[in-house]
Amino acid sequence: MKKLKVGIIGAGYIGGVHAALLAKDERVSVAMVHDVAVERAEQLAHSTGASIASSAEDLIGGVDALYITTPNTKHTAIALAAIDAGKSVFCEKPMATSIEDARTVLEAAARSGAVFQVGHNRRFAPVYATLKEMLRESGPAHSAHVKMNRGELINPAWVGDPAITGGFLYETTIHMFDMMRFLFGEIRGIDAVGSSHEYPETDDFSVLLRFDSGMHGTLASSADASWLFPFERVEVFCHHATITSREMESISYSEGLDGRHSTRSMQQLSREEKWGYAQEDRAFVDSIVDGAAVAVTALDGFKSVELVDACYQAVQTGERTHLN
Ligand SMILES: NC(=O)c1ccc[n+]([C@@H]2O[C@H](COP(=O)([O-])OP(=O)(O)OC[C@H]3O[C@@H](n4cnc5c(N)ncnc54)[C@H](O)[C@@H]3O)[C@@H](O)[C@H]2O)c1
Repeated sequence: MKKLKVGIIGAGYIGGVHAALLAKDERVSVAMVHDVAVERAEQLAHSTGASIASSAEDLIGGVDALYITTPNTKHTAIALAAIDAGKSVFCEKPMATSIEDARTVLEAAARSGAVFQVGHNRRFAPVYATLKEMLRESGPAHSAHVKMNRGELINPAWVGDPAITGGFLYETTIHMFDMMRFLFGEIRGIDAVGSSHEYPETDDFSVLLRFDSGMHGTLASSADASWLFPFERVEVFCHHATITSREMESISYSEGLDGRHSTRSMQQLSREEKWGYAQEDRAFVDSIVDGAAVAVTALDGFKSVELVDACYQAVQTGERTHLN
């Protein structure tokens, strides 16, 4: 069987995670890596057996599909070049760091015959897949409280520089904007308050969300919260029932009025399975090799960027942002 030649642009933390997972897939050869920091490319090339590409263009020319795992503001240009060359693309979140760039990528991906998948890995995490299934059985949800914190904006070094991240919401909280769409459907309106404390950018947010379904919810997101467990949590309330998640570790369910509850733990899974990285990489290859439907589309990537942008607008103007 001819193997799918995959390249990795950005040989840092998450590039390494994807490369190691892809190297275990018999359908794939991790063929090329490129990084502006040559020693990082060398390290990843050494651990995967890939060759080193001297530029993004060389890599795009030498593979069937590529992973874009560079810092956030470097995604769009590489994505557009790869789409133009007819290559399949796995683009880490955020798909872009502005509405304009997100729309350009969306339109290019729509014209392309190749696969384009966005790295919203949490959709594949068993905790959230289970939560979605529970909502199908017990829902619809009435309201929810979502929390996504970061301990700091220090590590990796670029994560505190909005010129590279697009801002904290683009770097971190975008996962939860995508997750809320995945679990509860489209968001119609956003009210938000933000403030700045430890970092030059807005680093604490309180958000009120209205969904098309009539459901409503709150989101709290702090970039200077320490790393107290769980830094990420979803609480859903409906019909005398509560469902709560604890990061990607466990999910609890309580129904009725007697306080009984049950908890399903994901602790036996590997980190790559728990966080959905293994499943999203398999899904990407399935779409290319078997023609399976793309699991997280460019439109999903666009919508998550749109929600982040709407949230920043609501903070800046003090007005509700309406989405179509
Ligand atoms: N889905 C997730 O859970 C998840 C987790 C971590 C990171 N990410 C995303 O993945 C991306 C990378 O994050 P990371 O934590 O791996 O960062 P990192 O700093 O560890 O790695 C980024 C790498 O990209 C390289 N790089 C920078 N500009 C480049 C360019 N123009 N061309 C080629 N290489 C370039 C850097 O030298 C570095 O080695 C970010 O967009 C981040 O938001 C997603």
